[in-house]
Formats: sequence, C-alpha cells, structure tokens
Amino acid sequence: MTYSNILVEQHDAVTLITLNRPQALNALNSGVLEELIEAFAAFQADPSQRCAVLTGAGDKAFAAGADIKEMADKPAADFYAGDFFSRWTSHVVQTTRKPWIAAVNGFALGGGCELAMMADFIIAADTARFGQPEIKLGVAPGMGGSQRLTRAIGKAKAMDMCLTGRMMGAEEAERSGLVARVVPLAELRDTALKVAAEIAAMPPLAAIANKEMVNVAFETTLEQGLLFERRLFQVLTATEDRVEGMAAFVEKRPGVWKGR
Ligand code: CAA
Repeated sequence: MTYSNILVEQHDAVTLITLNRPQALNALNSGVLEELIEAFAAFQADPSQRCAVLTGAGDKAFAAGADIKEMADKPAADFYAGDFFSRWTSHVVQTTRKPWIAAVNGFALGGGCELAMMADFIIAADTARFGQPEIKLGVAPGMGGSQRLTRAIGKAKAMDMCLTGRMMGAEEAERSGLVARVVPLAELRDTALKVAAEIAAMPPLAAIANKEMVNVAFETTLEQGLLFERRLFQVLTATEDRVEGMAAFVEKRPGVWKGR
C-alpha cells in the first residue's frame, strides 16, 4: 500500500511508523487512522517483523491531537452514528499482539497523548509535552485519555490534566509513570529503534505472552491475573524456544529462537 499520511520503514525486524503531517503537527485525521490500521495490520501479519516504533515527523510534535478542523463542522449525530474514535482502539490496539513503542518527539496532546498511551510503553524526548486539552474545546478525551491516563498516573494527576488541560513535560511524565524513559530529542529515534531491536531479538512467543500478561493486570482481579500469568508461563514451557533458552543459559551461549 502507498501511504500519504504516514511513513513506514523496516529496520531489520523493527517496523518504524512515522506520523507524517508535520504542517498540521501530525494531527490525527481519518486518513491517518486508515493508514495506521493498515500499517499495524501489515506489521502484525509479517513474521519477519517483531517490534514496532511509532513516532511523529519533525521536531515539534508526535501528534497534536485529533484533527480539530475535520471535526469542527461534523454534526453530533454523525459522531454517534459512526461511533467516532471506536476504530482507534479496536483496530490499532487490540489487533496488534506484537510489542510496539511510542517514541514521543514533542507535543502529544489529546488524541496524540491517547495514541501514545495505546503503545506498550513510551520513550519520550526531553522536549515532549503531554496533555488532554479537550476541555478547552468544550469536549473531553474520546480515545481513552480519561481511562488510560488515570491508570497510568493516578486520579490526582489525571484529574489535574483533564480539568485544567495543562501540559506535562517529559520529566514530570517520567516521574508520574506515564513514560518509561526520557532521552535527548536528538537521540530519540535511535534509542527507540535500539530498544525495539532488543525486544525484537527476544523469543517472539515469550514477547507476546509478556505483553498479554501485563495488559491483563489492567482488566482483572489479582487472583485471576496471577492465574492467567501462571497458566501462560506453563504454556511457554511447551515451546521449543523455552528448551533452547534454558539450554543456552546452561551452556553460556546466546539463544537462537524459532518462534515455536
Ligand atoms: N487539529 C488540526 N490542526 C492542528 C491541530 C489539531 N489538533 N493542532 C495543530 N494544528 C495545526 C494548526 O491549526 C496550524 O495549522 P495552520 O498553520 O494551517 O494554521 C498548525 O497545525 C501549527 O499549529 P499552531 O500554529 O497552533 O502551532 P503553535 O506552536 O502555535 O501551537 C499547539 C502548538 C499548542 C500544539 C497548538 O497547535 C494546539 O493547541 N493544538 C491543538 C491541541 C488540541 O487541542 N488537541 C486536542 C484535539 S481534540 C482531541 O484530540 C479529541 C480526542 O480526545 C481524541
């Protein structure tokens, strides 16, 4: 597929997807959505690809939110009838079982912050700024901000962010648990690709299982989560990669993975 709103490159086993509307601060319009769905589906389906990185073009923004100009004149009935924003969560997140990282290179506001939070984790540039400013537009988050932000940073800070619409810098975001690592902007892309390559070199089934386990922690009780974890651990012991991984440890050599 030819993309006009995003760029897709393969770096060995890592797919790099770049939101590419820098003139609109990479605002998320329906064209971006459809292309991202396609790119994530292709990443998921390609056995040579093991981890993905999503970032924004330019130094200014990861994404400054859903495209306000596209929404401005849309009648309310169309938002409701079309279940507006539902495709973001259902297609981008739920169908992507392989790990992916958001590399946030500037503004991540509204839908931009929400898209970054859909990633398995966020690596932020020191210049990154996160926010849920929808209240200033007379609306509220619509792509998961009130739910994922609250789970990530807790009620006090999530309320502060949603009710004031203020921006949070990278340092505060790391301190609050929103981002995993902060690096200088100039090093962001290479760092994200390096971390993704590290994940891509892991036994692939174990990578998917680790991701599933952590995500289940947000959806269930501790008892059910512990059972899910144990069962998935036990399932992994049936893989050839488990036999190889343990043999490689004992023999003091790197493992060679089959993804079986
Ligand atoms: N939608 C559409 N266009 C956007 C945009 C957005 N979310 N954010 C920025 N742009 C456009 C601007 O309109 C401008 O285009 P023009 O040159 O054609 O006027 C261009 O990008 C550059 O932006 P600015 O001139 O505003 O740049 P700035 O440096 O002065 O300000 C900013 C940067 C503070 C991020 C400012 O652009 C801004 O506040 N953007 C909107 C942020 C926002 O409200 N996001 C939430 C959107 S709603 C949402 O996301 C709902 C949801 O929950 C999913």
